[in-house]
Amino acid sequence: MNLRRCFLVGALSALFATGASAQQAWPTKPVTLVVPFAAGGPTDVVARTLGASISRTLGQTVVIENKLGAGGTVAAAYVARSAPDGYTFFIHHNGMATSTALYRKLSYNPLTDFEFVSQAVDVPMTLLARKDFPANTLPELVAYVKANKDKINLANAGLGAVSQLCGMLFERALDVKLTAVPFQGTAPAMNALLGGQVDILCDQTTQTIPQIKAGSVKFYGVTTKTRIKALPDAPTLNEQGLKDFEVIVWHGIYAPKGTPKPIIDRMNGAVRAALKDPEVMKRMADLGAEIAPDSKLSPEGLQTWLKAEIDKWGPIIRSTGTFAD
Ligand code: MLT
Repeated sequence: MNLRRCFLVGALSALFATGASAQQAWPTKPVTLVVPFAAGGPTDVVARTLGASISRTLGQTVVIENKLGAGGTVAAAYVARSAPDGYTFFIHHNGMATSTALYRKLSYNPLTDFEFVSQAVDVPMTLLARKDFPANTLPELVAYVKANKDKINLANAGLGAVSQLCGMLFERALDVKLTAVPFQGTAPAMNALLGGQVDILCDQTTQTIPQIKAGSVKFYGVTTKTRIKALPDAPTLNEQGLKDFEVIVWHGIYAPKGTPKPIIDRMNGAVRAALKDPEVMKRMADLGAEIAPDSKLSPEGLQTWLKAEIDKWGPIIRSTGTFAD
């Protein structure tokens, strides 16, 4: 080997050795988990519950950063542009798929601009109205909304939020268009519902169960096809006549494209450990969330699922004519 080549090989080995040991040492500082909706809401609750357990496994703080706006797309664009150094992760739900049909121009591609870490939990939704709303049952709600569609508003967390998806499916089922009132998360939307400033909200059990149990909202049913353990007496919307109405919220964890595979694998292990952590399992069960099945916990499992969800929701969303430029 001549001297020049010898030097080059030596330099490259040193570089790889530094990269490899940097990955072994990871994380040497706090890791950020970006949440695309307001603090205190359903995604934030899942992120903070998992984050506390992940931080115990990794031996580093997991900092939750709420990056709000445009139904989660501001945060997704931010993460897609972030350094792939293992210190930025992202939690997002069905919106990662639905936004591709809802936005004509999206500055990122959910399938190619991210590394896939794992799915985490599946969460049912619940259809609610303000406490003094005239309708007491789902049939009454359907009749009242059809008769008063110009006067009723529907809160959501913006185009791309699951509250928007669920509300849109409700409108489609009744063949009405209500006035949308967007918030930057369903935490502020729920406050507005409790304050009587908005009429209807479809939101995840991770936020709504305490309000349903306290009787501070009108509650019409769950969005799963079968009843859920956390609210065993609550009927489904499907069994009450909204045939095939189903929205289940799945939460996935991502990283910027190019984040080294050994780091993705370690984060995947930390998420899996969190999902087996008794504290996490209890909190999730109390809030109606189900731990995602094993088949969804690999990076490939999340990638395959996201692709299937884009294919599933695209035609449904396009059939409603809902989109943003
Ligand atoms: C939230 O965390 O505020 C919700 O997930 C927003 C939504 O998608 O409805």
